[in-house]
Amino acid sequence: MKSPVFLRIAIALQTLTLFAAPITAGLLLTVPVGRTLHSVSAYGVFTATLLHLIIAILMWQPGGGSPRPILYAAVLFGLTLAQIALGIAQVKTVHVPLGALLFGMSLLQLSQVVAGRRT
Ligand code: HEM
Repeated sequence: MKSPVFLRIAIALQTLTLFAAPITAGLLLTVPVGRTLHSVSAYGVFTATLLHLIIAILMWQPGGGSPRPILYAAVLFGLTLAQIALGIAQVKTVHVPLGALLFGMSLLQLSQVVAGRRT
């Protein structure tokens, strides 16, 4: 199915911010300004996943298309909130793998909307 351009842009932005998160995490562990940079990148992920959810809701037409994009966006946003809480609580054993999972999920969503555009 062809996905709307705004949804594709939102998912691309979300994937980009989730790609930046482990990079700033590396800085957090090595340079003094790293904590601030990782916090800024966390705000970026929060904003991008929320934007994705809002766009998925706005694009849905009741009785029309499938509500599945809303479910995908909502799951990612929920996991992002958990990720932020785990980061603040310093639960690194869950926080680090969840960060990798979030990026993988976002990349999968991106590949699906890009493939949908081509068909
Ligand atoms: C693979 C990706 C990520 C890695 C490896 C990573 C790693 C870390 C590490 C090592 C810490 C420090 C914990 C401590 O002080 O003991 C941290 C803190 C934190 N992380 Fe991440 N993180 C990742 C992704 C994310 C993402 C995607 C978010 C938000 C959506 C996030 C939000 C936070 C927050 C809010 C903190 C607390 C910062 C503070 O205390 O000032 N992280 N992260």
